[in-house]
Amino acid sequence: MNRRSALRLGAAAAGIGVVGAGWPMSHALLGSAESGRLIRSETKLPARYQVPLPIPEQLTPVSTDAHTDYYEITQQVTQLRILPETTTAAWTYNTSFPGPTIASRSGRRTVVRHRNALPVPVVVHLHGGHTPPDHDGYPTDFILPQAGQPAAMDMARNSVVGQREYVYPMDQRAATLWYHDHRMGYTGAAVWRGLAGFHLVHDDEEDALPLPRGFRDIPLMITDRAFAADDSFRYPVADSGGVTGDYMNGVLGDVILVNGAPWPVLQADPARYRLRLLNASNARRYRLQLDPQPPGGSALVQIGSDGGLLARPVSHDFIDIAPAERFEVMVDFGRYQRGTSVRLLNLLVTGSAAEVMRFDIVGADRSDDSAIPERLSTSIPLSREQVVGTRTFLFRLGRRGLWTINDLPYQPGRPLARPRIGTTEVWRFITEFHHPVHVHLNSFQVLSRNNRAPGRFDVGWKDTVDVRPAGAVEVLTRFTDYAGSYLLHCHNLEHEDMAMMADFLTIA
Ligand code: C2O
Ligand code: CU
Ligand code: CU
Repeated sequence: MNRRSALRLGAAAAGIGVVGAGWPMSHALLGSAESGRLIRSETKLPARYQVPLPIPEQLTPVSTDAHTDYYEITQQVTQLRILPETTTAAWTYNTSFPGPTIASRSGRRTVVRHRNALPVPVVVHLHGGHTPPDHDGYPTDFILPQAGQPAAMDMARNSVVGQREYVYPMDQRAATLWYHDHRMGYTGAAVWRGLAGFHLVHDDEEDALPLPRGFRDIPLMITDRAFAADDSFRYPVADSGGVTGDYMNGVLGDVILVNGAPWPVLQADPARYRLRLLNASNARRYRLQLDPQPPGGSALVQIGSDGGLLARPVSHDFIDIAPAERFEVMVDFGRYQRGTSVRLLNLLVTGSAAEVMRFDIVGADRSDDSAIPERLSTSIPLSREQVVGTRTFLFRLGRRGLWTINDLPYQPGRPLARPRIGTTEVWRFITEFHHPVHVHLNSFQVLSRNNRAPGRFDVGWKDTVDVRPAGAVEVLTRFTDYAGSYLLHCHNLEHEDMAMMADFLTIA
């Protein structure tokens, strides 16, 4: 794209002119647990624990050949029954929120054709995918709707009209990935309205383990939302992208949805389950704990992180999960008396967002051939000895009321780093506010937090790390395979839309 259109898009994404100068800002919030501002529903909140937990449907390929599975998804407006007595117009992948789950086999190519039947441009990113640059969902690689684009959009590099095929080589380990919209300046609004789904990768190493399977292997997409008086999703989107000034710290909702349903209930057997926790909220962080705790505590046995299985399980009483992070846990409901109702709580707040969902241990099937293996994976960690250099990225509010990285608001085509493929580096993320920092292309490993050892939620391969106010986190990075333009950004989607994003260029 040429420089002028890049600038224009950059300005639009950043919402320049919308955000008032001198926003009194985050100093007041420094150190607070809140990672945004609550937008309240104008409707009556639905009652808790009234609806069964929905499990997103697994998508069937339209065709397959020796090396590839082909899928099709149409993005469209769908009226969904989220609130009990009415419907909400959602932006959906096919017709559901979450979108259908795609299940890939490591090493087998997955091709997804997305058709855009929404009235807005879209971009699809596979979060956690090890994906060539042209298929990674660069924020200006739009799939434009059939009709009525603003002229500036037509000039964007690599945009198409109507549909696009995303090719995913899937040369990566088993892991819980997710796909979501990534359009510059509008990601927060698009994901809030429903553009998110799971994409699971399976491999032989994982298959050989005695982990719970089938209906006892459950993805849980946790989001917070608010509803307007007309039952639509309430979100303070600004006309030129991003959010209106009051909400630039992040948008928090007062209704918790799990797999798209408000405070749902799962009827569970007294047996082990594998829960794939994903925080797909725009800005909300959670501290998740089961209530009651089983006798002896340590209810959540973590077996996986963003980038797949850990070397060994790690037991937690609670888990802190920031936007875009995934924690895979095993929970043994056999430790509870049959008939117990176990709530999943969020300990960070009081009020409606303090409860997430409920497991009712009412099933009769105690049979369980799963186990918690002592060793899960032999994936080789990156080594400190191989580090060739350190880069520092400072995440903070800029002077013009935009979120910046190294004092620069996002501008497409301006890389902040040029790491060489195959080399190990230390990337330091320094912050003044809560910033869940996400890196595309390869997972990383946390090396230190505030100059000390990594925290208890930092284990394993990660692609998003929760950097807390006035924090410094060092991670080991090593990019492989694909040369090209990728993204580093805050996954608080309001920060991302308000310019806290940067390109980096991997060099062969
Ligand atoms: Cu989940 Cu660049 O995004
Ligand atoms: Cu990503
Ligand atoms: Cu941020």
